[in-house]
Amino acid sequence: MKPITALSPSSEPADEPISFFDLKAQHARLRTQIDIRLARVLEHGAFVLGPEVQEFERRLMSYTGASHVVTCANGTDALTIALMEAGIGPGDAVFLPSFTFTATAEAAALIGATPIFVDVDERTFLLDIDDLERQIKKVRQKGALKPCALIAVDLFGQPADYDCLAPLCEAEKLLLIADAAQSFGARYKGRVAGALAPVSTTSFFPSKPLGCYGDGGALFTMDGARAATYRSIRGHGTGDAKYEIVRIGLNSRLDSLQAAVLLAKINVVDHDRAARAATAAAYTEGLSDCVTTPTVLPDRESAWAQYTIQVDRRDDVQAALKARGVPTAIYYPRPMHLQPAYERWSEGEGSLPVSERLSERVLALPMHADMRPDIRARIIQAVREVVKG
Ligand SMILES: Cc1ncc(COP(=O)(O)O)c(C=O)c1O
Repeated sequence: MKPITALSPSSEPADEPISFFDLKAQHARLRTQIDIRLARVLEHGAFVLGPEVQEFERRLMSYTGASHVVTCANGTDALTIALMEAGIGPGDAVFLPSFTFTATAEAAALIGATPIFVDVDERTFLLDIDDLERQIKKVRQKGALKPCALIAVDLFGQPADYDCLAPLCEAEKLLLIADAAQSFGARYKGRVAGALAPVSTTSFFPSKPLGCYGDGGALFTMDGARAATYRSIRGHGTGDAKYEIVRIGLNSRLDSLQAAVLLAKINVVDHDRAARAATAAAYTEGLSDCVTTPTVLPDRESAWAQYTIQVDRRDDVQAALKARGVPTAIYYPRPMHLQPAYERWSEGEGSLPVSERLSERVLALPMHADMRPDIRARIIQAVREVVKG
């Protein structure tokens, strides 16, 4: 590759700025419905767990096919609540991919369990099942920790391989939790994310495939008893009577204003996913001969939370794209097992080579439902110019 520095005459930044993620455009599209919904909340004044929250939970049930949905304050709490309900804590091992957002590991650490990091597949960014089996074996051989749960992450929007993970978890007696924070709306063998594992969690952070205007999250399950405990935990551990406290819980409720925004936005979740998929298809067609494009397996439809390419000299490529007016992001620059806060649970550098390599090579391109084809074309052209030199 030639040095990545000067702008070629054909690639001067065009006037219109390119957004990495465009919440404003989406809001402009949905303003009327959102305004009506928000006005209703201001009118009735039930700001926390009001009628919109119940309506939204019902909407999530019908969208995903999960028989129970419990909303909460954010996706990190959703994971934490799932682990708390299972009684997981000190002395327990929770397996999870090292190449993920911090929250996946944080939930395990917060409840006193030991996160056990697993490597991922280089093409899909999803859990490497062979390495998972190796890590489980290692923990069992050492005998110091009890293997208790697996958190599979649907990274960048593509569901993990749940039909393969479910029997493995059953045989190993691990609770299988799907961290679907990035995959709301995705499909696996025709089934919808949220109903792919005994327990799934999601996040409604603004940049997620279904995002609110603040923080929000939810848990999905087919198990009514489990869902009842989730409700108790999210509300300070209350029992049947309001001030009867039957367990240690959290204050993790979704507020009605966020639910109102989400009720307006869930109506366009499939439309927006299709629009992002069109951008992803254009990127793949325009770039697969010059960078490593992401692989979505034939039995899956990604929610396309991110479109992540892999390139050599990633930081140079990012700087050169920035100079051409193309914003990009790095998810994630360091795998969890090499993060200072998590090193004590890791075997250090070289132990999970794919996660380490990805963290040096990944680059996420602009992705949102309102991207026009001409903007897409400018991005493709800029990437091609930069990587081809
Ligand atoms: C994979 C993953 N898990 C969990 C979370 C946590 O969600 P929240 O930010 O709503 O706590 C996120 C959010 O970025 C995520 O990407």
